[in-house]
Amino acid sequence: MSPRPLIAGNWKMHGLRADAIERVGAVKAHAGNADPGFDIVVCPPATLLRVVADALQGGSVELGAQDCHAAESGAHTGDVSAEMLADAGCRYVIVGHSERRAEHRESDALVRAKAEAARRAGLVAIVCLGESEAERDSGETLAVVERQLAGSLPPGADPANTVVAYEPIWAIGTGRTPTEAQIAEVHAHLRGRLGAAGEGVRLLYGGSVKPSNAAEILALDNVDGALVGGASLDPNDFWAICRSLS
Ligand code: PGA
Repeated sequence: MSPRPLIAGNWKMHGLRADAIERVGAVKAHAGNADPGFDIVVCPPATLLRVVADALQGGSVELGAQDCHAAESGAHTGDVSAEMLADAGCRYVIVGHSERRAEHRESDALVRAKAEAARRAGLVAIVCLGESEAERDSGETLAVVERQLAGSLPPGADPANTVVAYEPIWAIGTGRTPTEAQIAEVHAHLRGRLGAAGEGVRLLYGGSVKPSNAAEILALDNVDGALVGGASLDPNDFWAICRSLS
């Protein structure tokens, strides 16, 4: 049986309170109260988690954060722990997004520690990985994602605590996407590497997903949903992407 699909919106560093309330109200209204047959998550910046948690009350859309620290608490100025995110109403947290790997020099080992922290706090970690354009051009894609998967996933990762998002760096925010065959190849490879223990772990595709390409991407084998950046800022586009699942 295929896993229950998941569409996650990564708002990145966008939004103030008023925009967030309006945006999330529109997503919630689109989603309604009936089970749509897939999971929907919005991941606003940390300052908006509480306000979005309140706005999502009573609906089916869930809340996620964009990062966490690996420790439960301590002298880590400016950081937020997974326990704090759970306390703020989160169910999910993105870890190892390529923007954090690049801008904050996050290693696979650190990403793994963050995924472990997420599990400790009862959150689902959305672990991101993906190759650079140079790595793709030199034919290293499968080796790169395999190494990242092995290094970033904690032992005991299972469908209840882990989602993996394949996000080619060159496709993020660029409007360019891999071919369907390229996405399917990477997802089949990751599925194989997850093995029996990881059977049922959802594999999302991310990178320039939009209403016009979502249906084709979401129909591919081993694609169990999408991690959506730019298009998640427009609730109508985000909902159009969600609806392409049906
Ligand atoms: P994008 O971002 O949809 O704007 O390409 C995806 C992501 O970074 O998660």
